Amino acid sequence: MKTAWTPTSWRAKPIQQVPEYPDAEKLNEAEARLRAYPPLVFAGEARSLKKALGEVAKGKAFLLQGGDCAESFAEFRADNIRDTFRVLLQMAVVLTFGAAMPVVKVGRIAGQFAKPRSAPMESQGGVELPSYRGDIVNAIEFNEEGRAPDPQRLIQAYTQAASTVNLLRAFATGGYADLHNVHRWTLGFIADSPAGERYAEMANRISEALAFMEACGITPESSPQLKTTAFYTSHEALLLGYEQALTRIDSTSGDWYDTAAHMLWIGDRTRQPDGAHVEFCRGIKNPLGLKCGPSITNDDLIRLIDILNPENEPGRLTLIARFGADQVAEHLPRLIRAVEREGRAVIWSCDPMHGNTIKSPSGYKTRPFDRILKEVQTFFAVHKAEGTHAGGVHFEMTGQDVTECTGGAMAITDEDLKSRYHTHCDPRLNASQALELAFLIAEGIKAERNASERFAAAQ
Ligand code: PEP
Ligand code: CO
Repeated sequence: MKTAWTPTSWRAKPIQQVPEYPDAEKLNEAEARLRAYPPLVFAGEARSLKKALGEVAKGKAFLLQGGDCAESFAEFRADNIRDTFRVLLQMAVVLTFGAAMPVVKVGRIAGQFAKPRSAPMESQGGVELPSYRGDIVNAIEFNEEGRAPDPQRLIQAYTQAASTVNLLRAFATGGYADLHNVHRWTLGFIADSPAGERYAEMANRISEALAFMEACGITPESSPQLKTTAFYTSHEALLLGYEQALTRIDSTSGDWYDTAAHMLWIGDRTRQPDGAHVEFCRGIKNPLGLKCGPSITNDDLIRLIDILNPENEPGRLTLIARFGADQVAEHLPRLIRAVEREGRAVIWSCDPMHGNTIKSPSGYKTRPFDRILKEVQTFFAVHKAEGTHAGGVHFEMTGQDVTECTGGAMAITDEDLKSRYHTHCDPRLNASQALELAFLIAEGIKAERNASERFAAAQ
C-alpha cells in the first residue's frame, strides 16, 4: 500500500549519496533558515513549463536543456550567467528556425550544485578524505577542512541561485532576448568558427524576416513574443534537505511545489523505486526528469513511471536517456517499446554526455565530440524507427571558451585540454561545439517532421 506523502516522508526511506555532516545541529539550523526564505520560482511558472512540456510529449515541440555540470561559487559571475544564457538562446534559435518547431528552454542553472559521486571517499598520496560533492556540500580543495560538509554552504547556494534567477528573469523579459538582437548574441570568440559563420548567415535571414513582418505590421509591440522569451531553471534533486526546505504549498492549487527550480530531475544513481529521491519527487507537482542509464530494466522504468506520473499527465515526466554512443541502440528501443505498450505519455530526451566520458591519454576527463554526436544521431534514428518523437536534448555546456571536450569543427585535441580546462566536475561543450551540435540536431528534427508530414499527407 502506498503511504501518504509529506515533504519529509523521504526521510524514512533508504537513501543514497548523502553527505555526512559533522554537526547535525548546524545542518538543522541552516535548513530551518532556508524554510523561511522566499521561493526562487513560482508554482504558476512550473505549471507553464509543464504545459509547454505537454506539447513536447505530444510531438509538437522540442526540449532544450543545458548548462553546467556543477555550478560553483568560484565561477559565480554575471558574465558567466549571461554567456550560458545566450548560447542557449542561440541554440534555441537555430533549432526553432531550422526545424520550425517551438523550443522549450530549460537551464541546468540556479541550483545545479550537488553532485553524486561514484565513491564516498577519495585518496590522494595516501591521504583519504570525503569526495567532493559539489559546492553546496563541501569544497573541491583536497584538505580536511575543505572536504568536511558545511551547512553554511546551503545558504550560500541559495543566495547564488536567487541572484542567478533574478538575472535570468531580467535577460528573458527585459529586452536582451528580443529576437531583433539575434546578431548580438554571438560571443566574440565563436564568430570565426564554422558554427559562428553559419549562425551569422541564419541571423541575417531572421533579421530580414523580422523587417518584412514589421512592414506588415507585426512588431514587438503588437507581438510581445518577439521581445521576450520563457526560460526555465532545473537541477538534480539530490540534496533533499535543501529541496525539502524550499518545498511549499501553492495557495492557488493547494499542491506542493519545490520552489528551488521549475524542473527537478532524479539522477541515474538515485532512482531506486523504494528510495528517498523517488519518494521526495513523487509528491511535488513540478515537471520531473528521470535519468535512464544502461542498468535500468523495463520493469523498473514502468514502475518508476507509475510512481512519478500516476495520472499519465503529458509534460510531467521527461525520460533523459544517457546510455553512451555504443549502448543507446541496444537499450533505447526496449524501453521505448515498454513505454508504448503501456501507453505512457513521456518525453524522451537525449543526454549524450554522461555515457561518453573517458580519460584522455593526457589524464583529463573528457568527452569526444564525435561520440556525443553519435549518441544524438542514434537517438534520433531509434525514434524514427520506432515511430516516436525524439523530444529533446540535455547537454553539459557553457558559454565560455573552454577546452574540456575534444573534437568539433575547431578540432580540440588532447594536447589542447590543459589550456582552458575549468570545470568543477564533468567536461562541458564550449559555445562553438554547442552551437555546432544545435545545427546538426535541427537537421534531425526537420527530417522527423518532414517524415511525419509525408505520412499525414498519405493518409
Ligand atoms: C549529471 O547530470 O550531472 C549526472 C550526474 O548525471 P547522471 O545521473 O545521468 O549520471
Ligand atoms: Co555531469
